Amino acid sequence: MSEQPFYVTTPIYYVNAPPHSGHAYTTIVADTVSRYHRLAGDRTYFLTGTDEHGDKIAQAAARAGETPQAYADRISGMFRETWTRMGLRFDQFIRTTEARHKRVVQAILQTIHDAGDIYFSEYGGLYCVGCERFYTEKEAVDGKCPDHQTPLEYVKEQNYFFRMSKYQDWLIRHIQEHPDFIRPERYRNEALGFLREPLEDLCISRPRSRLEWGIPLPFDDRYVTYVWFDALINYVSALDYPDGDLFRTFWPVAQHLIAKDILKPHGIYWPTMLRAAGIPVYRHLNVHGYWLMDEAKMSKSRGRVLSPLELADKYGLDALRYFLLREMAFGLDANFSEEALVGRLNADLANNLGNLLQRTLGMVGRYLDGGIPPVGEAATEGDRELQRAAETLHGRVAAAMEGFAFHKALEAIWELLDAANRYIDAQKPWELAKRDGPALARVLGFTCEALRLVGLHLSPFMPPTAEKIWARLGIAGSVADARLSEAGRWGGVPLGIARQGEALFPRVETGAAAPPHGATGKNETAASSDEITIEEFRRLDLRVAVILGARAVPGSKKLVELRVGVGAEERTIVAGILLDYPPAELVGKQIVIVANLKPTKLMGVESRGMLLAGTGADGKLVLIAPERSAEIGARVK
Ligand code: MSP
Repeated sequence: MSEQPFYVTTPIYYVNAPPHSGHAYTTIVADTVSRYHRLAGDRTYFLTGTDEHGDKIAQAAARAGETPQAYADRISGMFRETWTRMGLRFDQFIRTTEARHKRVVQAILQTIHDAGDIYFSEYGGLYCVGCERFYTEKEAVDGKCPDHQTPLEYVKEQNYFFRMSKYQDWLIRHIQEHPDFIRPERYRNEALGFLREPLEDLCISRPRSRLEWGIPLPFDDRYVTYVWFDALINYVSALDYPDGDLFRTFWPVAQHLIAKDILKPHGIYWPTMLRAAGIPVYRHLNVHGYWLMDEAKMSKSRGRVLSPLELADKYGLDALRYFLLREMAFGLDANFSEEALVGRLNADLANNLGNLLQRTLGMVGRYLDGGIPPVGEAATEGDRELQRAAETLHGRVAAAMEGFAFHKALEAIWELLDAANRYIDAQKPWELAKRDGPALARVLGFTCEALRLVGLHLSPFMPPTAEKIWARLGIAGSVADARLSEAGRWGGVPLGIARQGEALFPRVETGAAAPPHGATGKNETAASSDEITIEEFRRLDLRVAVILGARAVPGSKKLVELRVGVGAEERTIVAGILLDYPPAELVGKQIVIVANLKPTKLMGVESRGMLLAGTGADGKLVLIAPERSAEIGARVK
């Protein structure tokens, strides 16, 4: 079978702020699709990187008191480091400040200029520094940027313009003739909507008197290149356009991945730029929706972000990946909440997946000395049903992946898990163990085979978990090296000796201190051994507090509701200490709390803060307390 090339890109992220979970989502999607294509035997290339020029970066650097280059180096390093620590396997990380990228931008500008599609003119318009673009009166909302909600500035100056209008009719035709050029369909329609109005030419320069931080125009060095014109070209400069082998191999199959915020530059500017430069256009633009927090887009400019490394450390990298890919229907917005993440972790991962593996391998250990039986012929309707469910998985996942419907691919995998759970419950191996050896072997062999296929198809989504599943099933070699064409078949890979081990996903109790993630999380992210700076430590508001009242939370085995005094203030903290501290013994004790923890609801009670506890020699919790009576409310330094 010949290898098909597959090329996927993420946006190159602005270096004006560190990565957040919204950026992580797009990068995880790119990682997942490229892993899937690798598993399918394709030759894949996954590009990500950082966008480092323009007003926005120059201003952020000035605020940080650094040169733009030093600032870009630092933040770009954080993106690369974050993706690496999250196990994201990009093939290249491009930076727009690299000389090879600048050369390609200048070459393309020159080509378009020589062809007569770049001209000099004066323009006045409403400009947003955050977006680095002009807005039309129509697009502005009450004179403000529709995305940043900041006032637009009227800017008038002489500049260079790209004759984008010339390509309007061609682009409309191209989109109409290639229905999956921009997908899902709602974004194709949105792009066609932009094209219903006459397309204005694009201002592609900024006078150096106003902005130094950019790539000089090759035909007029009083100007630097507009940052979007520079940034979009990364998708070809990274492939060594025009003569590189990478460009020849991968450009014809290029697929971009973006969120809807940057549909216009990718759906309108970029194809017309490519057309003007004589470069074939990309194959697909895949557009997803926003991660929302409290109903609004997760974004730094709105002060609403979650760090992906912190989440991965707390819940485990694979749990985070699973949540992001399962919760968001690609193309639509989705809500991010830790509660929803924990809900999925406990229900789907700990229960449906983890328990099935644990109890199946437990029975293989108990009844068959660990030897997983080879899959034989189906004998009962139950066997046939499970086998059918397993055999259709391959096609369902492939179809979902082709359309970027990750939630559907995961749904299909979980339907097989449900089928396997039902099968075990119906076949009752614990009863077969007493009376029917061959049937017992068949049932456990079938279930393990279903689990193997689950592991295989899960591997692009949750790579370390998939490796663990295969290792536990005694399979030699790594699932990442398997190929769907053979390994995707029922009975396609022999199983070995079952390996017992700890739970794949320990349940997260929604008790006070969320337990730091156990073995799985720590190994995968290594983030728990992170060093933090003194500034980061200072953000923790630790206080001495006194317990004024305590009662067990009704209906909970672990939770205690504490009334605590912190200086003049009183607040409620819910803590998972009931097993080790009867409430009556707690009143009057001095403790140490984290006072600036985001409030959270536990069993319906709002908890504002967290107390600190260690573990005693007897394995029981011990509250951390001042060594002698301390001032209540005093900051712990
Ligand atoms: N530098 C430009 C892109 C240039 S590409 C040639 C840029 N950078 S950005 O840092 O703002 O990144 C935007 C992208 O980050 C989105 O398109 C999306 O991929 C991701 N996201 C940022 N916030 C997000 C959400 N709240 N939800 C979903 N995606 C998120 O634009």
